[in-house]
Formats: sequence, C-alpha cells, structure tokens
Amino acid sequence: MQDVLVRLENMRAGARLGGGEKRIAGQHAKGKLTARERIEILLDEGSFEEWDMFVEHRCADFGMQDQKVPGDGVVTGHGTINGRLVFVFSQDFTVFGGSLSEAHAEKICKIMDQAMKVGAPVIGLNDSGGARIQEGVASLGGYAEVFQRNVLASGVVPQISLIMGPCAGGAVYSPAMTDFIFMVKDSSYMFVTGPDVVKTVTHEVVTAEELGGAVTHTAKSGVADLAFDNDVQALLETRRLVDFLPLSNREKPPSRPTPDVADRPEMSLDTLVPANPNKPYDMKELISKIVDEGDFFEIQPDYARNIITGFGRMQGSTVGFVANQPMVLAGCLDIDSSIKAARFVRFCDAFNIPIVTLVDVPGFLPGTSQEYNGIIKHGAKLLFAYAEATVPKVTLITRKAYGGAYDVMASKHLRGDVNYAWPTAEIAVMGPKGAVEIIFRGDIGDPAKIEARTEEYRQKFANPFVAAGRGYIDDVIMPHNTRRRLCKALSMLKNKQLQNPWKKHDNLPL
Ligand code: HXC
Repeated sequence: MQDVLVRLENMRAGARLGGGEKRIAGQHAKGKLTARERIEILLDEGSFEEWDMFVEHRCADFGMQDQKVPGDGVVTGHGTINGRLVFVFSQDFTVFGGSLSEAHAEKICKIMDQAMKVGAPVIGLNDSGGARIQEGVASLGGYAEVFQRNVLASGVVPQISLIMGPCAGGAVYSPAMTDFIFMVKDSSYMFVTGPDVVKTVTHEVVTAEELGGAVTHTAKSGVADLAFDNDVQALLETRRLVDFLPLSNREKPPSRPTPDVADRPEMSLDTLVPANPNKPYDMKELISKIVDEGDFFEIQPDYARNIITGFGRMQGSTVGFVANQPMVLAGCLDIDSSIKAARFVRFCDAFNIPIVTLVDVPGFLPGTSQEYNGIIKHGAKLLFAYAEATVPKVTLITRKAYGGAYDVMASKHLRGDVNYAWPTAEIAVMGPKGAVEIIFRGDIGDPAKIEARTEEYRQKFANPFVAAGRGYIDDVIMPHNTRRRLCKALSMLKNKQLQNPWKKHDNLPL
C-alpha cells in the first residue's frame, strides 16, 4: 500500500514539473510565469482542484511515443475566486510549447462541459504554439471541439481569455469567441498569420508585437479588452472582473455590502457640464462619482474612447455602464464605438446585468470613411442591441441627445425603463445652429436674422422639457441627486420581467 502512495506522489511531482527545470527557467527568463504559478495567483489559496493530471497524448509519430509528459501541456480544473466557483485551463508552454494535441483539447472540453452543467465561468490562460504539429488533423479537430463549446457556452457562462504568450493561426478564434480578452504587454501576441507570412504575401515588414501585441489589439483592432504590464497584474485584474460578474445566465448579478450610502449627494456634479455647450468635460468623472466607492472596471479603455463601457456597483449590485465621452470626438457615435458598446450591451443583457446609459451625444460621425466602411450597418448594431435588451435599462441625458443618436442611446422608445435628464440636457434633431441653417436657408445672408432664429430654436429645443412634456423623459433631475435617483430606479427594477417574442435567433446586422 505504502508503495502505491509513494508512486502517486512521484507521479504528481513529475506532472507538476511539466517540461522540466530548464524550460521553466526559460519561461521565467521571458518574464512569464508557469501555467501552475498563474493558477495559484488567479484562484483563492488552496482552492484549486486539478483534473486530468495524468492524461497523455496518443501520438506515435515522429518519435512522440517516447516523449510523454503527464498533463500533456495544459493544467485544468476548478477553484474559487473570492469564494465563487470558476473553471480554468492554463496552457503549459514548457510542454511542447503548450501546443494543442487531441488529448490537450479533450481536457479543455471536459472542464467547459462541466462549467456549463454547473453554471460557472471558464477562464482560459493561453500560452501556446498552436496546433501540435506532430498530430496533424487530430489537433485541428481538437481546436474545433473547443470552438464549438465556446459558441454553446456563449451567453450561458462568462468566458474570459488571458493571452500570456503566443496565440497564432486558427488558435486565435477560441479567445475571439469568448467574452473578454486580456493580454500581457511584450510577452503575448495574437495574429492569424505571423510576421514572416505577412512579409512574403504583402511585403510589409512588421514585428510580432506591432502586428498582434497587447497595445495593437487594445488600441487599434479592438480584438482585446485590456493590456497589462505583466502576468501578475493580468491575473489579479481578472479576479477583480470576476467579482462583478454573475457565474452564469441563471443567476442575478452578484451583490456585496457597501458602506457607500445610496442617497449620497454629489454637489460637484451640479457644475460638471460647462456653460459653453461646445466645451468638453470628462464623463468618467460622473461615473466614478456615482458608483459605489468610486470602483469602476472599464472595458476597452484604449479603444473607441468616444464611448465608455464598464462595470460598477450601485447599492452593492453590478451595473453595466455605457456612456458617451465628450472628451473624444465630442462623444460622437462612429463605427468602432457602436460595435464596442453593442457588444457590451449584449453581454450585460445575456447575463442579467442592468444597464445605465449616460448620454451626451451630438450624433453620428459624418464622413466618407464612416459611410464607406458601413456606419449604417455598424451603428445599427448598437440600436439593435439596446432594442432587444430586456434587462433593466436606466438612461440619463446630461447634455446633448441629438438626432438618431438620441433614439439609439437607450431612449424611452427602445423600452428604456427609466429615462432621466439633467436640466442641461438638449434633446433635438440637431444642434440649434445646424438646424437654423437648414430650415431658414434663405436667411443665411442675414446674420442678425440667423442669430435670432438660432436663439428661438435654442429656447425651444435646447432643453429637456419638450421631451419631458411628451413623457419621453420621466423626470428632470438635479445633478447632485444622480446617485440617489439611479439607485432608486435600479432598486425598483430589481424584479423586472420582459420577454422578446420567440424566435430561433435574431439577425443582428453583422
Ligand atoms: C509542437 C511545438 C509547437 C507546435 C512549439 N513547439 N510549437 N511543438 N507543435 N505547434 C515546441 C518546440 O518544438 C519547442 O520544443 C518548444 O515547443 C518551444 O518552442 P520554441 O520554438 O523553442 O519557443 P520560442 O522560440 O519561444 O517560439 C515559440 C513559437 C514557435 C513562436 C510559438 O515555437 C513556433 O513558431 N511554433 C510553431 C507555431 C505554429 O506554426 N503552430 C501551428 C500553427 S497553425 P523543445 O522540445 O525544443 O522545447 C495552428 C492552427 C490552429 O495553430 C488551427 C485551428 C483551427
């Protein structure tokens, strides 16, 4: 009996060593943690329950029958983050470069299937050279099995991908189908074809970092959500994100006690909007002043910065915030911001997270570049996302709500539950000057007349009361009472029930 116990311990120790001391040192030399070290930081201490430690690949080609490492390049199992269940897989670059074999894929699929059954998030720590080259099509099949599960799990359990090393070729499509992608600067990259192929085909010379590094994907392509300086920071921020999320679509968002009282007034908000309507102000200031304890987790802070998306808490419960940012492009909606916000709204709706929309939008961004690239189709995504969302929707117009963008930004007409405006709100088809130059085109040569007409238009529409008079705005509120009013609205909406008509699925404009 004793021998068996010793043997088990030895086998475990062997598995824990992965590709061996030398390769572990190599991993550390690149500034990267090992698969197991990462899990230790991600999960609560001692909570990790490992599965399939003794799984080995079944490949007998190219001498592989003599090279078997228990676990086969991925560590899988479940554990907790602040006491809440999550499933995790962590690719081990020290074992065949973390490459994905048939058996490696089976391990990932196993925890995904279990996560779906019990309703818990799946967190993937990606660090892999891609398909296990020695296995050929068996490896490609393995990838497709993972892809299929990513799709089935989408909207059922949150899926989070951390890119902590290479992620290239078709392998990128598994993270791409998950809800959030975090990357580590200088040690991770994602691309469909690497720099060498790019050079051969398009003659462009580009480094891996430029082509698919963390900064590229968080600021340029929008493929990834957040970039971090190192593994530890990425893992700790993942813990912070998980704290905001329900474990599955069967749950309400998590709630935690807060010392921040719901009726806390914030007098500085009374002067947040400048007197000059063309002067910007920072919408993030409004968010941080109304959420519990100023704690806001921003998603995609470096991409399409004219719209802000992220999670905060109101009276302890998670809320998704979508807000125009007057500091960037005057808060206009364009292609990138529409897609960014639409995806966020759909995530919130899938996971029962109420949405608070803060509106200061002068309209859609004009121009050939926007039109040629399909602003019609992409702007429609945000409209579609808001219109189909059945979660509680609370909207506050702080200043401009012009034209189609007024409709889009969770207006009453798109089943906004509670729509508030500050007294500084201007709800109109367009700004007074533009409006007068169209409807009184004949007077353009007469500046005095135009000025008078503009003032008339401003008096009539540059306020929230026409909309409030029609019931499109439920109330015009004092800025300093914003937190109290939003908390009350969200609390009233806690048990909201609304269902869309049955359908197989909708046809979101893609
Ligand atoms: C098997 C692999 C591997 C792979 C790396 N290794 N990638 N083994 N299959 N795909 C092994 C190496 O042989 C090496 O083994 C160890 O992992 C570390 O690799 P190095 O090259 O020494 O590391 P580094 O210099 O850091 O380079 C990392 C790398 C490079 C850039 C990822 O290894 C590389 O280019 N690998 C091939 C990538 C690739 O073409 N993959 C297939 C892509 S197609 P030893 O024993 O020396 O430690 C794909 C399709 C997916 O993935 C399709 C889904 C639909």
